[in-house]
Amino acid sequence: MSETFDVAVIGAGPGGYVAAIRCAQLGLNTVCIDEWKNSKGKASLGGTCLNVGCIPSKALLESSENYFQIKHKVSAHGITTEHVSVDVPVMIARKDKIVTTFTAGIASLFKKNKVKSVHGKGTLLKRENSANSWQIKVDDNGNTETIQAKHVIVATGSVPRSLPFAPIDNDMILDNAGALALTEVPKRLGVIGAGVIGLEMGSVWRRLGAEVTILEAMPGFLMAADEQIAKEAKNIFAKEAGLQINTGVNIQSVKTSNNTVIINYTDSNNQEQISEVDKLIVAIGRIPNTTGLGVKENGLLLDERGFIVVDQYCRTNLPNVYAVGDVVRGPMLAHKASEEGVAIAEMVMHNEKGQASESEAVDFNIIPWVIYTAPEIAWVGKNEQELRAAGIAYKAGQFPFIANGRARAMGETSGFIKVLADEKTDRVLGVHMIGPHVSELISEAVMAMKFSASSQDIACIVHAHPSLSEVFHEAALGVDKRALHI
Ligand code: FAD
Ligand code: NAI
Repeated sequence: MSETFDVAVIGAGPGGYVAAIRCAQLGLNTVCIDEWKNSKGKASLGGTCLNVGCIPSKALLESSENYFQIKHKVSAHGITTEHVSVDVPVMIARKDKIVTTFTAGIASLFKKNKVKSVHGKGTLLKRENSANSWQIKVDDNGNTETIQAKHVIVATGSVPRSLPFAPIDNDMILDNAGALALTEVPKRLGVIGAGVIGLEMGSVWRRLGAEVTILEAMPGFLMAADEQIAKEAKNIFAKEAGLQINTGVNIQSVKTSNNTVIINYTDSNNQEQISEVDKLIVAIGRIPNTTGLGVKENGLLLDERGFIVVDQYCRTNLPNVYAVGDVVRGPMLAHKASEEGVAIAEMVMHNEKGQASESEAVDFNIIPWVIYTAPEIAWVGKNEQELRAAGIAYKAGQFPFIANGRARAMGETSGFIKVLADEKTDRVLGVHMIGPHVSELISEAVMAMKFSASSQDIACIVHAHPSLSEVFHEAALGVDKRALHI
């Protein structure tokens, strides 16, 4: 006899595990099925984010930044250090410990909230039209069981996109998992793709001493960011961080020979080039993961790029089947996945109680983006090129970190904050930041936009002195040309 649930969630990344916890909190009998195994072959909840994504990458960014500060920056404070060295296996072990603490934490959260956790690959079995629930086959290394559920939330995430001529071996040619598990600093590191992973992982290994060359296909740099921020970032990364970034390249071939990876490519002038490196990270985007889910058998609709098609409430074309996170359209971000998971849980609960749904569609315009480089980059809402393209008249206020007392005291003066507001209504349309700790500062901008604040509203809020948040305040004042400290 198969067990029966109100809700079955497939995938325990930040989309799935959060959806499962919220469903259970709302009184729905919930199971979460996940197939992830860690390098020791053990089930490990948390998906890409906890196992090989957000959390481990931030652990290594923190460690490598500490090393970089001690080696290159603390002398300016009058602190002398000698024989500074890095023990990469210890750094990796620290990162692994953080990961296992958090993945085990999700198992505890499941227990606390009475979410049943089942390990294995979940496949939606073909459903008869007359049936009023779904059957999911769960396969754990050949041991199978069938689970029955009225509602199914698919949160199967994404996997790295690869280049056909550069197969990942996670020895010399690495994806994100391999890039997070190196046991020594490569002398020469190549990265294909100057996107978020390329910049973050390139920064980690550069700070630890690798020569890093990043090869990017697009003619521009960080094209999703505000143009001015991208320009500033490229300059700082080249001059201060020492990342060599070549844009407009076309990779022709990747070969390995005698512990060397040889990359043949044409540069932006169409000249043939060869780059030889010890390790190569391929970070050219991620693709939705629907392998083995039962897509064809059930007629689950995918778009031309393989994402599960959903409406604004994350409903698929199949009855009572929803999908959230990286496997559907929208930014591939953990907080976006979780937000969708919560919204779905609440919609399912209202449906079950026969109540009108009060769920709100997740508003992508107020989802923050953060790139954890040094300096950090963060934004929310529209950038200048998007506003110009949409023909929206706007005012801009900008303030540099170099004119801020706290940033000076910290010795972190690169970058600025820019506030964009509607020319007529003054409503904030976008906020763009590059500088120290902007991953934290962006939340104030998100809150301002969530509550439809004007730049005047932000200008009226008292910000502690001295603090980095004063840069945001001054940028908002700058919208009406009344910044005080510049
Ligand atoms: P996932 O986290 O991918 O989880 C999907 C889960 O489903 C996995 O456990 C998978 O094993 C399981 N699964 C798949 N198919 C099945 C099946 N058929 N049966 C059972 N289980 C299945 N985002 C941020 O917001 N901030 C960051 O700082 C950040 N850093 C990142 C760094 C790196 C190196 C990478 C690679 C990504 C990063 N991301 C970051 C992106 C973030 O990890 C993803 O957006 C997020 O994990 C998506 O969550 P998800 O729940 O949709 O999918
Ligand atoms: P990405 O989409 O950010 O960047 C991929 C880059 O590779 C792009 O600039 C693209 O133009 C380039 N590219 C594609 N094909 C190429 C080729 N053949 N040759 C050279 N360059 C090529 O994808 P990335 O970095 O793999 O990360 C995947 C996603 O994971 C991100 O988009 C983001 O959603 C998420 N992520 C988020 C983080 C954060 O929030 N801080 C950190 C890391 C990842």
